[in-house]
Amino acid sequence: MNWPAEAIWEAVYPLLPDFTVEVLPQIDSSNSELMRRIRAGRCEPTLLVAEQQTAGRGRMGRDWHSQVGDSLTFSLALPLTPADWSGLSLAVGTSVVGSLHPDLQLKWPNDVWLQGRKLAGILIETAGAGEQRCAVVGIGINIAPRADNGLSTPPAWLQEVLPGIDAGQALLRIAAPLLQALKLFERSGFAPFQAQFDQRDLLRDRAVNLSNGTVGMARGVDAQGGLRVQTPDGMQTVTSSEVSVRPAALQAE
Ligand code: BTN
Repeated sequence: MNWPAEAIWEAVYPLLPDFTVEVLPQIDSSNSELMRRIRAGRCEPTLLVAEQQTAGRGRMGRDWHSQVGDSLTFSLALPLTPADWSGLSLAVGTSVVGSLHPDLQLKWPNDVWLQGRKLAGILIETAGAGEQRCAVVGIGINIAPRADNGLSTPPAWLQEVLPGIDAGQALLRIAAPLLQALKLFERSGFAPFQAQFDQRDLLRDRAVNLSNGTVGMARGVDAQGGLRVQTPDGMQTVTSSEVSVRPAALQAE
């Protein structure tokens, strides 16, 4: 696979001078690798592309399966010191869909969906490296159709809306805007992303079941990225660390 590593570096390094791009043919998980480096005290801004992950990880302890050539799996590590971390994954999702296609939607807190099926997932982790706080933003995107892997809901893939796009081209579209979004988030938190999130919000005005037992109607997100749910007991705001959400008419993540 030909990765436009130099073009990505040229687009990103004006925003982040020490930035490097690395492509590994195989690794357990690009997130795990960057987290190991951070725990060893290294938090240089790095975009790590994994052509193959042998132990890709999703949110809430799930596995993330992908096949070589059919998907884009990468992680971005960088020092980040926002005053408030809440809403970071929503800001990242908003940036990713904005870079790719107007038909993509966001399922709170950070899944990318296309026409009722999941297209991409985001896993954000943080750790301290010495005095610094570092974030690892991991993104997995289905690019091409793949063999049925037994999921009850078949996944979506990017070539459905962008015929012929490959993983490298998708990464080139995503990388620089993502960096810009992270810088904006660091300065101003989630608030500047709220209106864009709203436009892509898959759950808005849908009935939802939350894993904590709450049932209600999703009513958008607040300025910190919390999901507002109208319940029989009044409006509740939930944060993504607390729950997962199942839209009543759709399958779970
Ligand atoms: C989810 O939907 O649960 C999040 C999936 C995140 C997958 C990406 S693929 C690149 C990076 N490395 C990982 O092990 N996970 C993330």
